[in-house]
Amino acid sequence: MSYTEPREQKSDGRMDAPAFHRNQEFIVALLKDNLSGIEGDVLEVASGSGQHAVAFAAALPHLNFWPTDLNPENLISIDAWQADRRLTNLSTAAQLDVAEPKWSLDQEKTLPEKFSAIISLNMVHISPIAVAQGLFRGAGKHLNERGRLFVYGPFKKNGEHTAPSNAEFDVSLRAQNPEWGVRDQSELEEFAQANGLVLDQAAAMPSNNFTLIFRRK
Ligand SMILES: C[S@@+](CC[C@H](N)C(=O)[O-])C[C@H]1O[C@@H](n2cnc3c(N)ncnc32)[C@H](O)[C@@H]1O
Repeated sequence: MSYTEPREQKSDGRMDAPAFHRNQEFIVALLKDNLSGIEGDVLEVASGSGQHAVAFAAALPHLNFWPTDLNPENLISIDAWQADRRLTNLSTAAQLDVAEPKWSLDQEKTLPEKFSAIISLNMVHISPIAVAQGLFRGAGKHLNERGRLFVYGPFKKNGEHTAPSNAEFDVSLRAQNPEWGVRDQSELEEFAQANGLVLDQAAAMPSNNFTLIFRRK
């Protein structure tokens, strides 16, 4: 797994991803708008450094956050951020491969079976399409009745990039790994449809990104 931008690693294991500092306040604001009246557990998949999980837990103290990632190195960073901040509503990091046909949440006793929200930031374009499929399959199974799936990143609309910079980013992603690439919103809507979900909102975010918010049909 490589990253599009280098991350700085602190001596205690905390990784610092440059993109976090550019996008976090806007993502936090969107989550506050959408999750203020909702209680329960929130799963973050592909938490990366863990900086977003820490920011979410601090900004939304009425929700319990469960950070996860495929990569064990990231789990160390997530837990290092938590050790630094000591938030009471942020659990220790758990390994979760979103592409697994069956998320091992029910075997992994530390994770709940149902979530009020599932959050995926900057994952579906930096992983094979099977990971995006797995995200929607898992969300269909593990979101509660009023649950929401938040998918943040750059997306194509009707086969077209929404900005020249996204087209260039897409080329660079595919050069790193031919299975990566900016996904089309309609493709994700098809995965949602197949798992009992529907697009509720496509919120425009800075830097030509979107947050796609899905709910149960
Ligand atoms: C570009 S990073 C984004 C990290 C973080 N969400 C952020 O926005 O800063 C992509 C992340 O996707 C994770 N990832 C890739 N494939 C995955 C999979 N199959 N299951 C879970 N996480 C995965 C990587 O380990 C990595 O942390």
